[in-house]
Amino acid sequence: NLCGFPHFMLKEIQQQPESVQICLAHYFHAISEPLLSVPVNLNEVHILACGTSYHAGLITQHWIEQLVNIPVRVRSGSEFQEAPLPMTANTLTIGITQSGETADTLNAIALDKQRRLAQSEVFQPHLLGITNQPNSALSQRVDWTMPTLAGTEIGVAATKTFLNQLIVCFYFTLELALSRQAISPETVQAYWAELSTLPAKIRAVLQLETQIKPIAQAMINQQHCMVLGRGINQAIALEGALKLKETTYLHAEGYSAGEFMHGPIALLDERVPVIAIAPTDSTHAAMIANLRQVKSHGSPIIGILTEDVPPETASLFDHVLILPAIADPLSPILSVIPLQLLAYHLAVQRGLNVDKPRNITKTLSE
Ligand code: F6R
Repeated sequence: NLCGFPHFMLKEIQQQPESVQICLAHYFHAISEPLLSVPVNLNEVHILACGTSYHAGLITQHWIEQLVNIPVRVRSGSEFQEAPLPMTANTLTIGITQSGETADTLNAIALDKQRRLAQSEVFQPHLLGITNQPNSALSQRVDWTMPTLAGTEIGVAATKTFLNQLIVCFYFTLELALSRQAISPETVQAYWAELSTLPAKIRAVLQLETQIKPIAQAMINQQHCMVLGRGINQAIALEGALKLKETTYLHAEGYSAGEFMHGPIALLDERVPVIAIAPTDSTHAAMIANLRQVKSHGSPIIGILTEDVPPETASLFDHVLILPAIADPLSPILSVIPLQLLAYHLAVQRGLNVDKPRNITKTLSE
């Protein structure tokens, strides 16, 4: 049921304040009485996932490494089968999959489990699944399941399920950090206070839609586009480019802004717009320096920022989208939304079937 929306993708983007609220309410109760008994002797985390869920894995890697201070490796389910990661008896493996049925992720999880069973003397059954379908095949293969509670997602492009994956992964990071005394209960409380502001802030970001439609219009005939981010928003650059590719068929590339300078910048000219995710955090100054180079090659720049830019940098941007301020680690939860809306409006303006793009299905099961 579209409930008056023209497409499921737009409905699901617009549902995000509510779906995040439901997820926060569920996990808020859990923080004082943890849902999982996470083994405190963990010494590393592996994350196995594909597509948008893989990008949630990259953000989770950043969170766990920075807040818990243990190493995390993220591998695409398909690659893991070719080259399994070395693991120890105290490695936790997390499978992230919206559908819980993606064959590449399930096969990677099965291989991980098989390797643990072969070493049953010492290896713990440390397998956690994060999924929107708690009765899926994934849940049967893992030791614990954390539901993402986003409700049914019909549009092929993952939107609200991605945001809820991030909420669950951040909750998990806090729980792990707390259990290892890597952060104080006061810091956890402060993050919860920030998380509770998300539904209102997501609503504010959704208001940017009126500014995003003309940006989509300006991009209607473009063949290529670059999406740049630094730090934790590098994964959002990848996710934004994936949303653009799959729904609009535009050739979009997501890059770390720093890495982009090492060659790919040669692709730029006035026909290649650049979308820059540049919140006012520790990466901002380096990002602005990169964008000065981008501008010198003539590319139009769309800035996703957290504050009005000072006059000396304002001339860099052809369009500016301002996000509400949020604690730095949580910025991906807001910065992805303008990219979802841009992908949606560009696809619609191009006359494409945004809910069912060509060549792909919602779930790549066996
Ligand atoms: C992108 C998209 C795909 C899925 C990927 C994994 O919008 O929907 O990239 O994210 O196929 O699917 P799940 O999360 O169901 O394992």
